[in-house]
Amino acid sequence: MRTVEWEPQGPAVRLIDQRLLPQRLEYLELRTPAAVAEAIRSMAVRGAPAIGATAAFGLALAAANSRAHRAAQLLQEMEQIAETLRLTRPTAVNLRWALARVLRAARAAQSQGADAVRQAAIQEAQAIAEEDVEINRRIGRHGAALLNDGDVVIHHCNTGALATVDIGTALGVIRTAHEGGKRIHVLVDETRPRFQGARLTAWELERYGIPYEIISDNAAGYFLRTGEVAAVLVGADRVAANGDVANKIGTYMLALAANANQVPFYVAVPLSTVDLTIPRGQDIPIEMRDPAEVLQVQYRGQPIAPPGARARNPAFDVTPHTLVSALITEQGVLKPPFATALRRAMQEAEGQ
Ligand code: MRU
Repeated sequence: MRTVEWEPQGPAVRLIDQRLLPQRLEYLELRTPAAVAEAIRSMAVRGAPAIGATAAFGLALAAANSRAHRAAQLLQEMEQIAETLRLTRPTAVNLRWALARVLRAARAAQSQGADAVRQAAIQEAQAIAEEDVEINRRIGRHGAALLNDGDVVIHHCNTGALATVDIGTALGVIRTAHEGGKRIHVLVDETRPRFQGARLTAWELERYGIPYEIISDNAAGYFLRTGEVAAVLVGADRVAANGDVANKIGTYMLALAANANQVPFYVAVPLSTVDLTIPRGQDIPIEMRDPAEVLQVQYRGQPIAPPGARARNPAFDVTPHTLVSALITEQGVLKPPFATALRRAMQEAEGQ
């Protein structure tokens, strides 16, 4: 199952419409960059690596659809569309990273003409998607070594195949451990207000046959205190140079409760999620979403809040690096001090 892929015949970007899960598995075929931007904005596709790959394909679509004859004109059009795609969601750095990669590859082909630029953009977007799958395989292998047979783990949001191109980051670790024969039981945070845990992670775990129970977000502290939880596993949307982690709202509270109970708190991330230009977590832009997402949740078929109620809806929070036990990356498991470990891992990855 690929969450997002390039359809050369269209050309089109084909992706799972995650808004319909867990009730229906349906795909969208998007034929314009504007439709791709809207799919990211409306969270038909979500999860940092998945939106990175989708944006890259959106830009490839812009190149493929353009009628420009001159390479310079095509590149100018692509830069404009990249800006639209970049603004769709602000926190996940993978989006900017993927667009920058496609633009760089396209510019490098400029001297060979417009068709070469088109080809370079499509190839680079496909490479980003293929590499994501391989990187997640490596994250899975490194992370699975941290889990033991019989472990109960808490997982927040959705970090599985749906949040990436395939396999997943934190959920990929769980899946790899399970496929390696370890019995892992997952406590799935429901992840209000959009319920990525209850809707998407539970749907994936059903498919993989991994035992799980959904818990309300505010039950995590209770379970951490019972002593039955071996580890907390989450992903990230952006990691600052010092190891501070921006991830789905609620992650910070979970990290605090894990630390207070001496439970390891692991963050599984591809290095494309690390932003060395941002020194500390407080500099990471946090997406504020429509308050309606908080208010429209229903109880017994009715909205939970009285008419006229107001709400605030930050989509992410920042967990300070002091609460993170390890960062599980494709280059291995990084331990504190993260500033040094991250710089070294990025250098190693570039040299490969
Ligand atoms: O708002 P979302 O659903 O895009 O947020 C996703 C998350 O916060 C994930 O935990 C993160 O992107 C890591 S996914 C591999």
